Amino acid sequence: MASTAYTRPSKPPGLAGERRPAARLSRELGRIEPKKLGIGLVAGCCLALLTYISFARLFAIYSPVFESTSLVMKNAPPASTAVPSTESGTVQQKIELEDEKDVVEDPKEPSFPEEERKVEEKEEETAVTKPSGGGDAAETKIICDENGVDEGFPYARPSVCELTGDIRISPREKTMFFVTPSAAGAAALDANGEKKIRPYARKDTFLLPGVVEVTIKSVPSAEAAPACTRQHDVPAVVFSVAGYTDNFFHDNTDVMIPLFLTTAHLRGEVQLLITNFKPWWVKKFTPLLKKLSNYEVINFDKDEEVRCFRQGNLGLYRDRDLILSPHPTRNPRNYTMVDYNRFLRGAFGLPRDAPAVLGEKTSARPKMLMIERKGTRKLLNLAAVVAMCEELGFAVTVAEAGADVRGFAETVNAADVLLAVHGAGLTNQIFLPTGAVMVQIVPWGKMDWMATNFYGQPARDMQLRYVEYYVSEEETTLKDRFPRDHYVFKDPMAIHAQGWPALADIVMKQDVMVNVTRFKPFLLSALDKLQE
Ligand SMILES: *[C@@H]1O[C@H](CO)[C@@H](O)[C@H](O)[C@H]1NC(C)=O
Ligand SMILES: *[C@@H]1O[C@H](CO)[C@@H](O)[C@H](O)[C@H]1NC(C)=O
Repeated sequence: MASTAYTRPSKPPGLAGERRPAARLSRELGRIEPKKLGIGLVAGCCLALLTYISFARLFAIYSPVFESTSLVMKNAPPASTAVPSTESGTVQQKIELEDEKDVVEDPKEPSFPEEERKVEEKEEETAVTKPSGGGDAAETKIICDENGVDEGFPYARPSVCELTGDIRISPREKTMFFVTPSAAGAAALDANGEKKIRPYARKDTFLLPGVVEVTIKSVPSAEAAPACTRQHDVPAVVFSVAGYTDNFFHDNTDVMIPLFLTTAHLRGEVQLLITNFKPWWVKKFTPLLKKLSNYEVINFDKDEEVRCFRQGNLGLYRDRDLILSPHPTRNPRNYTMVDYNRFLRGAFGLPRDAPAVLGEKTSARPKMLMIERKGTRKLLNLAAVVAMCEELGFAVTVAEAGADVRGFAETVNAADVLLAVHGAGLTNQIFLPTGAVMVQIVPWGKMDWMATNFYGQPARDMQLRYVEYYVSEEETTLKDRFPRDHYVFKDPMAIHAQGWPALADIVMKQDVMVNVTRFKPFLLSALDKLQE
């Protein structure tokens, strides 16, 4: 059955090269109920790990949110994406031409800084023209992280380079000139002293050709580089907003969370340069960009200057989609999704850090927000569900997420419970007050992996209380499309085995009609959680 389809026999379960400790993996597994995983967990830990990994691999190469088959087909990765990656821990290439000096940081992080800005480390950064090689404050180094692998999340390790030294960014030439007087640092670069990166924070072979390629080019002396027309005292971060942006899930997973991860510790003292610049996108996320950077963003596609910096990043660090884990180089400050939530509240001025506590003096009704889907995976008996929720004591609002991010963020932040059918709208959980409840209705078709990894685990990581409701075959419109003895019902994993086109056409396209009798205990549980 399913387990054979998902198990790759050759992969040892040791995860030797993995930096994510196995303990964490098993903890995650432990949270997935075997019944729901529906596969051979009983066969033991090793098989479970294998299955988990290959399960992950199957889904993770796709964006979770695309619905129409044509879009999805375009998104289909080449077969080679699923290359087994036995050996490949990150190859961190770290070249230091001179003594590495610690970047001064506030040890009190990781909570996102609201308070004072630290400026004391600026002194040597202003020494832009100081020749390096002098052995004192000047240093020249390049660190690239480009071969990282996260099992099951092949897109989650985009290439990033961090440069320190004499950096001259010439957008017109799509080049970051890097003055390296000694030849010593060449290991991070190719034979021509170059490194080319498409700086979109999702390593997706389908997307990357559409991302502007930026070259780091090492030159032996300042004279060999273009002359600076602008000096900057703060680090540069060059990144792209091409790709799946304007889908709210991807706006967060591919740009805003990576940008937060990469720059939050700089407390606004960073210059952002955006390639594949989309004015409407930048406008939409301006409150967040302003919170991360005290300077106007630069349109890398149009800029005519040669901008000089002492530090610069090409690309962004990222982790899993709405999940952040500590990592010595990618997330050294151990930011969590709770930090990201706090950052969003700060940027949008969202007032609520915690949900209403029930059972105390207040007689206010808990507020429930239902996010309505209009295309696929509609909740057909929304009115009946609303009626029952009101009967149970909730004050219900039904809304559809729109283009006004701040407006919708306020609506979500006002809620104590967020309820929606699986889909990108659930990403709005990032605006809930910590401790609120999220209810995910998971459609038919063994969507466990996606439900868990895209929304369920993130909810837990954001310290939300999480309730999931798996619809039965009685509650899906697939029963109007397929006979009950069809594999869609008898063996849903067979749909997955056919790959994304089948999933998109069957699993993603159903609507649901929940049985309110069956659903009621789940809503009561949501109420209970608000009383805990
Ligand atoms: C981040 O977490 C690791 C353990 O996962 C710990 O060793 C390290 O000290 C933490 N760093 C910070 C800045 O808290
Ligand atoms: C609804 O769920 C209840 C409780 O699980 C069950 O007894 C009932 O048969 C279901 N109704 C329908 C129409 O399936």
